[in-house]
Parts: sequence; structure tokens; C-alpha cells
Amino acid sequence: MLKDQNILITGGAGFIGSNTVEKLVDDNKITVIDNLSNVPDDRYIRDFKKKKNFRFLQRDLTDKQTFGDLMNFDLVIHLAGHSDVRGGFEHPEVDFKHNIEATRNLLDFIRQNKIKELIFSSSCAIYGEATVIPTPESYGPCKPISSYGATKLAGEALISAYSNYYNFKASIFRFANVVGKNGTHGVIVDFLKNLRKNPKKVDILGDGTQEKSYIHISDCVEAMLLLNSKSNITDVFNLGNVGRTSVKKIAEMIIKNLKLKNVKINFTGGYKGRGWQGDVKRVELSTEKASKLGWKNKYSSDEAVEKAIQEVEKII
Ligand SMILES: NC(=O)c1ccc[n+]([C@@H]2O[C@H](COP(=O)([O-])OP(=O)(O)OC[C@H]3O[C@@H](n4cnc5c(N)ncnc54)[C@H](O)[C@@H]3O)[C@@H](O)[C@H]2O)c1
Repeated sequence: MLKDQNILITGGAGFIGSNTVEKLVDDNKITVIDNLSNVPDDRYIRDFKKKKNFRFLQRDLTDKQTFGDLMNFDLVIHLAGHSDVRGGFEHPEVDFKHNIEATRNLLDFIRQNKIKELIFSSSCAIYGEATVIPTPESYGPCKPISSYGATKLAGEALISAYSNYYNFKASIFRFANVVGKNGTHGVIVDFLKNLRKNPKKVDILGDGTQEKSYIHISDCVEAMLLLNSKSNITDVFNLGNVGRTSVKKIAEMIIKNLKLKNVKINFTGGYKGRGWQGDVKRVELSTEKASKLGWKNKYSSDEAVEKAIQEVEKII
């Protein structure tokens, strides 16, 4: 596990970021950069602000001035990004700005400061509608069907090039659906908000047959750090789970957890049965590569969802 490192975490005030900070803050010096655009405020990292080895900078990565006074990092964990996959259809330019421009600025900073290590949060969305499921890292050609997936793939490509040019190691993680404490968005958050407003009805975007793999945040953070420590070269890893959970099942699990009765499950039909344009209906990533390096999820896909419902319920 990392110790006595000077670590920059972008997007550290968000869901995966705040959990990553929690994991590392006791043994390392942590700087978080976050513009608080996807989160209500700094609530997920507020407690860490009392610690001497933690600082929060509310800054935007698309602004080059952001990096002016920063230096001496051993590792950068790049989690900032536009995580609203749905929004891309109406506003693809937001994905371009926060997933490509921001990543390029960060890479220039890494280059100028000769930083030796980068961890990057990519996504299963880069594969598009893969014809091989579970999808291995070697699958191709990658044909994303959303601007989110496309801009994450562009981020991967830029990182690959910069790491080769400027001699640093990058671990690129293609996450499936990550769920759990401090969740800011996604199906569990949506259903819980929906049912809090109206306990008699829940809308399921699409036809409800969408099936995806879910990974619990604790597994996700541990896997990122473990696999990065075991890898000596720039490499790509899927982080997901064996098996899938349907959105209909998630709605039923939430209804049961909230002890609600006679709830109408309403399928909106969506776009060709998908939740929205750009939604991939079936997602399961092969986790064999991670397994070979000694990684095993603690929670299955269903267990991750169940645990996340209880964790997110407390904050919605
Ligand atoms: N949660 C998932 O299931 C999932 C799946 C695949 C990939 N990812 C990727 O992992 C990363 C973290 O995801 P998350 O779920 O924690 O999302 P999140 O929205 O909770 O966190 C992202 C954080 O980045 C910040 N941010 C966005 N643009 C910024 C900018 N230009 N400058 C500074 N800060 C900026 C936001 O304010 C937010 O706090 C994202 O890049 C996301 O695309 C997440």
C-alpha cells in the first residue's frame, strides 16, 4: 500500500475521489483539485480538511492557471471528468471540455514536472456495444456510442502517447458501474430520489432489460491501487465483476429495502429500449487480467448493489 507519497487527486471531492482520499489520507500527503461541478459541495471531503497532510483546491482543470503553484508530486490520480453519460447527447461539448481538454492540461503539467506515475479513470463505455461479453481489454475495434465513451477513449490515447514521450507509467482503469458510499449519480441514486418523492411509482428509463456489472467502491479503490503497484509499464485494466444485475432487479431491491408496498414500476421505453441515446444495454467486463495479478472482488455484482443501496439511502 502507498506510504509517504505526495499525491494529487483530481476530482477528489466526487464519489470515487472522496473514497480514494479516505483510503490514502492517513499515510500520504494528499492534494485534491476539484471544481465542485458534479457534486453539491465539498461535503464528502470536509472531514479531511482538518488533517495537516490534506489540502483542497477548488480549481478547474480546463484552466491552465490551475497548475501554476503546484509541484513535487510522486503520483497523480486523475478522477475528474464529466461523469453524466446521459448529458452527452444534448451537450457533447461538455464531455470534450472536461474529459479531453482537462486531461491534456493535466498531462502537460505531468510532463513539465516530470511526474513518474499516473492513474486514470476510464470507462467500459469506450467499448461501445461489444460483441464479446465478458469483454476483455484486448477487444477491438472500440466503437463508443456516446460522446462520454469517445472522450474517455481519447483520454486513454493521449495518456498512452504522453507516457511514451515523457517516460512516466500510467495505469488506465476501465470501470464498469461503480456503486457505494458518496455515490453522486447513477441508477441507485436516481431510483432512491424518485421513490423518496413518490413512494407509489418508480420510472425505469428504457425497457428494464438493461443488465450491467456493478462493482463496489471499496473493491474499486483497492483494485486500482493494487494493480497499479503490480504493474511496471503503462497498461490498461478492466475493473468490474463477474455477472450482471438488471435495472429492474435494482428497482425491486430498493423497493424491498425501503419496505414499500404496491409500487408501480413504470418502463419509459427510452430510446430503442435503452435508458437514453448512448446507453449500452449489456455490460460485463472480463476481469481475468486483474485476477491473474492477484485481484478478487470482495462483493459480487448483486452484493455490491445491495450494500450500495444501504449506503446511499443514508445520504439521499
Ligand atoms: N462512477 C462510475 O460508475 C464510473 C464508471 C466509469 C468511469 N467513471 C469515471 O471515474 C471518474 C470519477 O467518477 P465519479 O463517479 O466519482 O464521478 P463524480 O462526478 O462524483 O466525480 C468527478 C469529480 O470531478 C470533478 N470535476 C469535473 N470536471 C472537472 C474539472 N474540469 N476540473 C476539476 N474538477 C472537475 C467534479 O466536480 C466531481 O467532483 C470520472 O472521470 C468518471 O467518468 C466513473
